[in-house]
Amino acid sequence: MAIVDAGLRSAYERKIDSGTSFASTTTSGATVRQDEALEEEPMYVQSAEPPGLSNAPDGPSIGVTLSQQQFIDRYDLEVTAADPSAVDRLDALVDAYLRMSPDLPGVLAAAPESHSAALSEIAAGCLFIQAHTSTDHQRAAAFVQSLEARHSDDPGVLNERETQHLAALARLVAGDVEGACDVWERLLGRWPTDLLALRLSHFTLFNRGRLTDMVRLVDQSIDAWEGRPYRSYLDGMKAFALEELGQYRDAERLARAAVDVDRSDLWSIHAVAHVLEMEARAADGLAWFEEREDDLVGAFGRHLWWHHAIIHLRTGDHQRLLDLYDQRIQPGEARDGLSLTNAIDSLARLEFSGVNVGDRWPALAAPAQHRLGHHDHPFNDCHYAYALARSGEGQACERLLQGMRSWSDRPTTAGRVLTVVGLDTARAMAALGSGDSTTAADLFSRSRAERWKLGGSHAQRRLFELAESSARAGEVSRSR
Ligand SMILES: [Fe+2]
Repeated sequence: MAIVDAGLRSAYERKIDSGTSFASTTTSGATVRQDEALEEEPMYVQSAEPPGLSNAPDGPSIGVTLSQQQFIDRYDLEVTAADPSAVDRLDALVDAYLRMSPDLPGVLAAAPESHSAALSEIAAGCLFIQAHTSTDHQRAAAFVQSLEARHSDDPGVLNERETQHLAALARLVAGDVEGACDVWERLLGRWPTDLLALRLSHFTLFNRGRLTDMVRLVDQSIDAWEGRPYRSYLDGMKAFALEELGQYRDAERLARAAVDVDRSDLWSIHAVAHVLEMEARAADGLAWFEEREDDLVGAFGRHLWWHHAIIHLRTGDHQRLLDLYDQRIQPGEARDGLSLTNAIDSLARLEFSGVNVGDRWPALAAPAQHRLGHHDHPFNDCHYAYALARSGEGQACERLLQGMRSWSDRPTTAGRVLTVVGLDTARAMAALGSGDSTTAADLFSRSRAERWKLGGSHAQRRLFELAESSARAGEVSRSR
């Protein structure tokens, strides 16, 4: 478990071990480098997807300025922080993000405490953006505003790499997702082992459907990772991208090897699951999940349980799928987008297969309504539209569609996606959910060619294909 052991020393210990006196601070808190040997140190970090952020405790207070120094983080990267414990909290945040840990919301809330490490605030801001709610977006915007003001007053608040991270977050806050990807790519060109930037890019490019760029970014960075901890995480990222590109053999080989290195690497476990799903290898899929049931925890664990469950659409064991829904997939108190979309997808696929799911829909209406008012993730909104319609929440569904309509006018990445495909697909899902197959079929047909722009995986977007088939079947049966 070299991956785990690599970062157990505190930032203070790493600073002492380096044999350098990194910095002193001016009365204004600015950092003054004392040892130019630091120039030879690489500067990098890392990160992942935000499970369950809608349930995260309130974020930290904003407005404290502490004296800052340069430390070396768990991955030998230069980090601006007030003290070694702040670097340890940043390490913990990045680690939880990489591992998709169920502890991430708690770690996230603690990491940026009292502005003790600017990169913790920036990383937290990026994760809040990925939660796709107004509240979380405001938290991220507050980090940007605060950090830009503090950096303007005192350049020592951020080093050069962190300044680029802040620029990427500012673009995300402005809705310029492609702009953020451009910043991360430039950053990675100079600091190829910045795993935070690489992981954020990986997920963001995935949601933009930019699959070859996902592969390219890993390939550009991978040489710099030879012999380092977390190297296998790059293989897992490349494996998932290759799977989405249909290169199943290379994807499965890389992902299985990555899981062999670290069996807690949920993203690599997930890459294997995708290969098995796309190749319809039901027996292999069930065996894959049976070996690791205890590892599938947290919000992303629920997504893996969803992968496990939908295998039973192939085996025809619909009761087992329903049981897994009740025991593992239904979101309970969770309100994050991934947990909700897993649940909505499961019930919808069962119904498309002719299964009566009973009274399970209404329990999804309240968490779906919790997501209204913020529409920068049209893929999720299309799911909410169906859940609200199936739950008989017509007014809430209309509010959702009206919000999406309004956001489609914005000069943002999400606005463009809503215009070309998001709004029509959500309207189609709403129409199908409320029994209007003719309207649904027409809207699905109009938006089908652009559907990939919604993001999500091939396996996830299969829901829309099944929904379109269901709408067409509904049209046929009504015409008889
Ligand atoms: Fe997946």
